[in-house]
Amino acid sequence: MALLQIEDLSAYYITHVFGVKRDVKAVDNLTFSVEENEIMGLAGESGCGKSTLLKVLLAMVKPPLRVLKGEVNYSYNDKNFNLLTLEKDKLRKVQWEDISYIPQGSMSTFNPVRKIRKTFEDVISAHKKTEDKKEFEKLTEDHLKYLGLPLEVLNSYPHQLSGGMRQRTTIALATILKPKIIFADEPTTALDVVVQRGVIQMLKQLHREQENTMVIVTHDMAVHANIADRVMVMYAGKIVEISKKEKLFTNSSHPYSKFLINSLPKIGDRSQKKKCTR
Ligand SMILES: Nc1ncnc2c1ncn2[C@@H]1O[C@H](COP(=O)(O)OP(=O)(O)OP(=O)(O)O)[C@@H](O)[C@H]1O
Ligand SMILES: [Mg+2]
Repeated sequence: MALLQIEDLSAYYITHVFGVKRDVKAVDNLTFSVEENEIMGLAGESGCGKSTLLKVLLAMVKPPLRVLKGEVNYSYNDKNFNLLTLEKDKLRKVQWEDISYIPQGSMSTFNPVRKIRKTFEDVISAHKKTEDKKEFEKLTEDHLKYLGLPLEVLNSYPHQLSGGMRQRTTIALATILKPKIIFADEPTTALDVVVQRGVIQMLKQLHREQENTMVIVTHDMAVHANIADRVMVMYAGKIVEISKKEKLFTNSSHPYSKFLINSLPKIGDRSQKKKCTR
């Protein structure tokens, strides 16, 4: 049985503009599954519904977003449940502990007026129910060291860290409780190429050693080529293609996927790029 099975899922933003009802079909009739220990890439242009889909898979649905139909079934460690119908207290327990999230834009994870240490403390104490400061310190410090992060980050405010360091700290926070599945929304976007590589290596290390499952959202096809096992391509709220990475990059039959792949620069490509003319 797949770790995550999505059945016939539709979620729309339902808004009223000057009294006129307007639906944005951000997630439209999706059925797919993610296998245990797989890295699933999620690709597609800006606005196609990638972040919205993650929010639904994490049961983080707030108006104007509404789930119209469908199921989000998880199955692991003898547990089987539809996350969308789980009771509130159970939902709070599985979020972070089993099902974790690296949101788009690492700034939003941390409270700007609190030191990073406090956020780690909150997450750990909410789930491990530990009031023991020593235990908290040890767990946090061991995990940061394991990921090669300096312990000074704990005494910093979010704005004091560079974008790359903040993103790596966000990943550390999302993985400290060793979740079964991690959703990462654009984990490398807005980082320079060298820092991007560090973030990808970190995700790969965590995947290998924590033996988790990952869903990685990015419109950067080069990142999928590097890390994903399978890639799902979305367009306007729908699935265009789900393929093994090798097939997608060598033999995709879908024009839209081809278009995305062709946007990658190629080694040895000497063709003239369009000059910017004013
Ligand atoms: N709060 C909202 N109210 C109304 N429409 C919204 C809201 N948030 C997103 N949308 C719309 O839903 C659609 C999907 O948005 P979403 O953020 O999921 O796209 P995305 O694929 O993650 O894009 P990006 O690559 O830019 O992050 C878009 O058309 C967007 O304008
Ligand atoms: Mg997004």
